[in-house]
Amino acid sequence: MNTVVIGTFFGDESKARVVDYLISKNKFKYVCRWAGGKNAGHTIIDDNGNKTVLHLLPSCVLDKDSYGVLGQGMVIDPTALRQEILETNMNVNRLFISKNAHITMPYHIQIDQARSLSKNIGTTGSGIGPTYESKVRRTGIRSEDLINPKILAEKLEKDIVAWTPEMKTLGLEIPKAISIMAKIDTAIQLFAHRICDTAELLNKTTDSILFEGAQSALLDIDSDEYPFVTSSSSSIGGVLTGLGINHKKIHKVIGVAKAYSTRVGSGNFDAELHGELADKLREAGKEYGATTGRPRRVGWLDIYKLNKVIEMNGVDSIVLSKLDVLSNLDFVKIKVGPSDDYIQFDTWEEDLSFCRNKSDLPENAIKFVNGIEERLKCPIEYVSVGPKRNDIIEWF
Ligand code: IMP
Repeated sequence: MNTVVIGTFFGDESKARVVDYLISKNKFKYVCRWAGGKNAGHTIIDDNGNKTVLHLLPSCVLDKDSYGVLGQGMVIDPTALRQEILETNMNVNRLFISKNAHITMPYHIQIDQARSLSKNIGTTGSGIGPTYESKVRRTGIRSEDLINPKILAEKLEKDIVAWTPEMKTLGLEIPKAISIMAKIDTAIQLFAHRICDTAELLNKTTDSILFEGAQSALLDIDSDEYPFVTSSSSSIGGVLTGLGINHKKIHKVIGVAKAYSTRVGSGNFDAELHGELADKLREAGKEYGATTGRPRRVGWLDIYKLNKVIEMNGVDSIVLSKLDVLSNLDFVKIKVGPSDDYIQFDTWEEDLSFCRNKSDLPENAIKFVNGIEERLKCPIEYVSVGPKRNDIIEWF
């Protein structure tokens, strides 16, 4: 069954561990990213405790039978991609890169970072916004352009000209196309032969596909949260445009939500916590950005917002992640309405990471999950209780 795994909040919901678990269980042939780029920080921990952090590669690197697809809605930093392929030891021949995906050039990153010193919403500084700006302005460079040096040089020059006024304002040196090409050449050599028409590949296949979300529904460029969002279509609509597939290819949508919530960067956060309780939750959940190392803002789970995301994205079931993090708090709350409407639950002291069945959980943890599910517009399918692949409970 072709399945979408989508983040329902502000990113960092543990999507990658869910993807890794689902691949181990269901054997998907293709695992596809449809949006974003190096701004994502996807952490997988195998059962021996080995940790892999991914930014561009789909979370199938530990599975030797599946193929990773980087879709046309993505923005790809070639140097970062090379580094990740080498670091993870992924066989590059298990990767398909869309010919239409846009390329993050070194100056996109410099502009993103230089802007953060003036006006910025707290981006990850990976060049994501400027790359999508080049794309929308029609001066962007696509991955198929990397293969032809003459076209690449022409397109780079055109894009650099378009950026020159802002680069001057930001005090950046105006780069030369030729020196950029020299800088990214080694990277291109590694994966150039994997650039192809991935839309055709996915539309024709009868094998099963997992669509791996990056960022989240609320960080989508068209979300209510604008302008404190990323620059791509990271909600359900982006699956179709970001991979060039038709809607019949999607059979199921799984939404991932933490048992509490977090956010990095600026923007509205209704159920946010501050002070000692926030610090305790942040430490227990190790809530520091996998890409930037920034401390994440933390808060209670906002069911009111989550239900809107479930409706808008057609989410069929929820994975409630990181339940174990709430052990040892004095109480837990969920937000259930548009204003300050909270419901409080008693907590538990037990370490949940050893639980594998609902019946292994302490009574108060079961009451908490049931309390969430009663108020959700879709059922809870899994509850995760630890970072390793099998630290997960099937809820129905
Ligand atoms: P950008 O995607 O780097 O342009 O950042 C735009 C906003 O999205 C910032 O608030 C980032 O912190 C946030 N963001 C981008 N990627 C992620 C992610 O993978 N997890 C959580 N927040 C993200």
